[in-house]
Amino acid sequence: MAISPMKPMLKQARSEKYGIAAFNVIDYNSARAVVDGAQEMSAPIIVQLSVKTIRLWGFKPIADWVRSLSDSVDVPVALHLDHCKDLGVIRRCIDAGWTSVMFDGSALPFQENISQTKLAYELTMAAGVGLEAEIGAIGGTEDDKFVAEDEAILAAVDECVEFCQHFPDLAVFAPAIGTAHGVYKGKPKIAYDRLAEITSSVDIPIALHGGTGLSTEQFSRCIQSGCAKVNISTMHKLQFIDGFADLRKQKPDLGEPIPFIEAQYELMKKGVKEMIALFGSQGKA
Ligand code: 13P
Repeated sequence: MAISPMKPMLKQARSEKYGIAAFNVIDYNSARAVVDGAQEMSAPIIVQLSVKTIRLWGFKPIADWVRSLSDSVDVPVALHLDHCKDLGVIRRCIDAGWTSVMFDGSALPFQENISQTKLAYELTMAAGVGLEAEIGAIGGTEDDKFVAEDEAILAAVDECVEFCQHFPDLAVFAPAIGTAHGVYKGKPKIAYDRLAEITSSVDIPIALHGGTGLSTEQFSRCIQSGCAKVNISTMHKLQFIDGFADLRKQKPDLGEPIPFIEAQYELMKKGVKEMIALFGSQGKA
């Protein structure tokens, strides 16, 4: 089917308390593993791209891959832009056919975050494209953004309420709740009470960033508390590398690339299916 907007998918996920996996894809093979994994699980799925990855491959080629992959399956596939501070990139994604984008003004002072997010909101609403926006500071590294763990800041509930009043049609809202991008150094400390307070005052679906390394229990508690979009990047990137590296170790004399591409695809697809099963979105397409 044609690529889908993520907002209705996430609204339903939040009300039925399951999570939709959003994978940061790397190339065509990675996007193929994500979409095929979703198809095998009959699950809605979000294919998302970092700005760095878009700069590598280009807007149109990526949109073309995802469109053709989506056309080949019968589960809803959304095409989303992950953390982006550049309205020019957002405009180009909209023109190329992305169904949603994230504007990340979280490093700005709160009022400035609101005024910058407003520009992205106007742009996306006019184009009929979904918007994700963030407040607080999620720890770790994502694309070119680094927030030291001791500088991560939980989103304040009153600020979440004020922020969302400005943007009632957000597709998904990303408040920092203690998770971090990348590989966790210690045990992740999720502020469940804060999350519950936010979701009792904000009915927009919540995005859970920093999915790699969370336990089954942590995913489940967050999803039960309103997290509808669950972001996975680092795990998928490591499987992208390991798919090649493991086969190279097993068969050092193999010089034909296609078995490597297939091994990589199978490993990534397995990871995608495991996450879908964990988040409860299997059969929800
Ligand atoms: P991980 O790299 O921890 O999976 O986080 C992904 C993410 O939140 C992308 O925005």
